[in-house]
Amino acid sequence: MNIVILAAGQGKRMNSDLPKVLHPLAGKALVRHVIDTARALSPRRLCVVYGHGGDAVRAALDAPDLSWALQEPRLGTGHAVRQALPFLDGLGTTLVLYGDVPLIRAETLRELIDAASGGMAVLTVELADPQGYGRIVRDPAGRVARIVEQNDASAGERAIREINTGIMALPTERLGEWLNRLSSDNAQREYYLTDVVGMAVDAGLPVRTASPAHTWEVLGVNSQAQLAELERVAQRAIAENLMERGARLADPARIDVRGELRCGRDVCIDVGCVFEGRVELGEAVEIGPNCVLKNARIGPGTRIEAFTHIEDAVVGADNRIGPFARLRPGAELAEDVHVGNFVEIKKSAIAAHSKANHLAYIGDATVGRRVNIGAGTITCNYDGANKHRTIIEDDAFIGSDTQLVAPVTVGRGATLGAGTTLTKDAPPGGLTVSRAKQASIPGWKRPEKE
Ligand code: UD1
Ligand code: CA
Repeated sequence: MNIVILAAGQGKRMNSDLPKVLHPLAGKALVRHVIDTARALSPRRLCVVYGHGGDAVRAALDAPDLSWALQEPRLGTGHAVRQALPFLDGLGTTLVLYGDVPLIRAETLRELIDAASGGMAVLTVELADPQGYGRIVRDPAGRVARIVEQNDASAGERAIREINTGIMALPTERLGEWLNRLSSDNAQREYYLTDVVGMAVDAGLPVRTASPAHTWEVLGVNSQAQLAELERVAQRAIAENLMERGARLADPARIDVRGELRCGRDVCIDVGCVFEGRVELGEAVEIGPNCVLKNARIGPGTRIEAFTHIEDAVVGADNRIGPFARLRPGAELAEDVHVGNFVEIKKSAIAAHSKANHLAYIGDATVGRRVNIGAGTITCNYDGANKHRTIIEDDAFIGSDTQLVAPVTVGRGATLGAGTTLTKDAPPGGLTVSRAKQASIPGWKRPEKE
């Protein structure tokens, strides 16, 4: 089997510099959805027909299993498929997909391919408003006779509600000859792929139809509004899938997954959360409202409180993170770690049972077990030119408002007094404090107004 993905359209109505098929839907380019679905069918050849803005499309998607057929100029869907012919295997079925119809399911396509055996098949749906689409014209016996485009149709044909979705399965051996015979003698002066239907009928081949289980599978994207509509459809499907696998969503209409989200059992996700890239939530993880998680792994039993932002980080089991915490790339938290409000952690490993409950910056640090990091603690990791590491050993206690000027080490069990600016290593076990001596001035009086 061959699959041809038509993606040469300009997408003018998107009003965007980004080629239409590269616009993201659920975090993935429109045409990438189609390519992934096509791959699920294991075609022998997978060819993308590209045109305007095509170099960007090619660069964004190139992969060894894809071939690229340039269509320039753009003379219609029949002309587009003709450009793909040199890249196809001469035998079997050729399936035509659209790069801007992203939600078509592999299961539907398998049915279409089955329907094409010994002839060809067209994926059709009945629409209350068929305006703009090609109509399926049937003979008195109900067999498909041809497809007529909106602009070429008679008033009677325009009343037909069964439309061509554009997705077809065709016999490859016949395709070259049929495409060569296409004429552009029609209302749009284009080479219509749809005209091969009449040719198949003339050749005595059966033309069958198949239909998707859901109409949204065949919805295309031509505008930002349609893209937003399909985004909702895609998100709803993702949410339903998560719930089927046992995740509890406070509101399936208020979650956005732009990538791949995997949940263990009994995960709870509150409203307004965004998941990007690959995110894994272990069993019984709870995510509070309005959190953003990107490329993150969260261990079982951990609770992420409201308004927390996590990116490229790994969080162990039974942590308490947030509200208003920020875990940046390279943050690695072991089990039972507490990170509170306005704490930022970057490229740092925090070992088990340690806590940083308020207002801190921990960057380029290695923090041991059972460490307590007081409010206002800052690792001064950057000297203006280079980054340096801070090491805080097990059982250390870092008093509030402390600056750790890296590179520096706080020894095991050491205590740093509040307000310390640590520029040399603190020895294990003892108290280190750098602080001006406190003085009270006897007899001092506040100035008074003259
Ligand atoms: C086409 C069908 C119509 C069907 C409709 C479904 C034809 C002649 N008409 O309409 O029966 O109801 O789709 O949406 O086939 N494309 C190219 N190169 C071209 C022209 C189009 O790659 O020269 C691609 C577009 O990027 C798009 C797809 O083909 O992905 C359909 O093109 P579009 O112009 O939207 O479809 P219509 O011709 O209006
Ligand atoms: Ca269209």
